[in-house]
Amino acid sequence: MWSEVFKSDGIKNNELKSVTVRGMPLLIASINNNIYITDLYCTHEQTSLEEGFIDKCHVVCSNHFAEFDPKTGKAVAGPDGGDDPIKDLKSYRTKIENDTIMVDLP
Ligand code: FES
Repeated sequence: MWSEVFKSDGIKNNELKSVTVRGMPLLIASINNNIYITDLYCTHEQTSLEEGFIDKCHVVCSNHFAEFDPKTGKAVAGPDGGDDPIKDLKSYRTKIENDTIMVDLP
C-alpha cells in the first residue's frame, strides 16, 4: 500500500534520514538525486543507519561498517569488512507524486 513519506524537498542530495511511516522505522537515502527506502536498522546489531554515511552509492553503518546497497537492500560487505554474512535489509518501492515521496509498504 502506497503511503506518504514527506515532501521531496525534505531531504538533500546525498543525505540519510529516518522516518516512521505506519509504525515502520525506515531509512530514506537520497543518492545521486535518486530516493531509496529501506529498513532503518542495521541487520548486524540494530544501529540506526541514519547515523551512517554514503560511500559509492552504498549505505555504510557507522558502528562496524557493514555496507548495504539501498536499491536492493542487499548486504554487500560484512561488519568490519569481514566475511561474516549478515542479513539483507528490506527495500521498498518508492515514487514521487505531487512533490511528495511515497513508499510502497506491505
Ligand atoms: S551494527 Fe551495523 S555493522 Fe555492526
